[in-house]
Amino acid sequence: MTASPVVFADRLLSLGLARVSEAAAMASGELVGRGDEKAADQAAVNAMRDQLNLLDVRGTVVIGEGERDEAPMLYIGEEVGSGTGPEVDIALDPLEGTTLTAKDMPNALTVIAMAPRGTLLHAPDVYMDKLAIGPGFAPDVVSLDMSPSDRVRALAKAKGVKESDITVCVLERPRHEAMIADIRATGAAVSLITDGDVAGIIHCAEAHRTGIDMYMGSGGAPEGVLAAAALKCMGGQMWGQLTFRNDDERGRAAKAGITDLHKVYGRDEMVQADVIFAATGVTDGSILQGIIREPGHFTTETLLMRSKTGSIRRMIYRNPKEWVGA
Ligand code: FBP
Repeated sequence: MTASPVVFADRLLSLGLARVSEAAAMASGELVGRGDEKAADQAAVNAMRDQLNLLDVRGTVVIGEGERDEAPMLYIGEEVGSGTGPEVDIALDPLEGTTLTAKDMPNALTVIAMAPRGTLLHAPDVYMDKLAIGPGFAPDVVSLDMSPSDRVRALAKAKGVKESDITVCVLERPRHEAMIADIRATGAAVSLITDGDVAGIIHCAEAHRTGIDMYMGSGGAPEGVLAAAALKCMGGQMWGQLTFRNDDERGRAAKAGITDLHKVYGRDEMVQADVIFAATGVTDGSILQGIIREPGHFTTETLLMRSKTGSIRRMIYRNPKEWVGA
């Protein structure tokens, strides 16, 4: 007789996931503003892996620190968890915004998402052209096919506001100069971020508190899947198309099992089943408070969400430093 599959009981598992993301944040907490990106990232990776291995799951990292030969820990394909419990896919970024952390600039996060095995897109480490908006709009009101200015016009119309009332978040990169000019030509505002497009995209889901209506531009494909997981929990639409600069990058896609190199992935193609998502603020931002360091204690804020219910928890955790990692 074959054993019946263990159900992905995300209700309690999600609380464990919050501990994983909190642990990574606290580990990098001492390194905020110290100018050492690598040390901050390594501390987050170690702590995330240790906590993840305490969870009762049979997990496979599908979005991680890189390919096996590039990353010693939390590499793509690494088996994590205690080895009992449901089989799950795990997408993670132990420190999303290493430079933001090293320089104590806004919106650095630790991020992790978990879903039943085989349901998260195995996005290779290449760029992805991304477009996201918050909840409450008709399907496909904007698309990657449209020019940036047409997207602004379509969203303004759908929202019943002027183009100049729309704010678009964009990563500040030379590759986005023409796009920024096209957006601004409509009268819309552009909110530039130096890093951290997972947070950038999450901003769209809470436009009333962040002031961001739309996200567009190219950034890491792994971060795209994490952002899609967040929007699946919060509501909102997202599209992503992988882009390739050379054969090495096309080879990464082949290795990840991707055959259609031109496909536009919708949110639910990147995250095909119910997902749980946790993010903890490392530096202050508009969606999460950063780590507060005080003698003897760390305080963190974590966003914990389940797509099945659309529930969003914000958890404040004050922890004595001697227990960090225990
Ligand atoms: P880190 O790897 O330093 O955390 O950077 C994250 C990030 O800013 C992502 O949010 C974004 O998707 C990507 O880097 C952009 O890549 P690039 O810096 O090559 O434009």
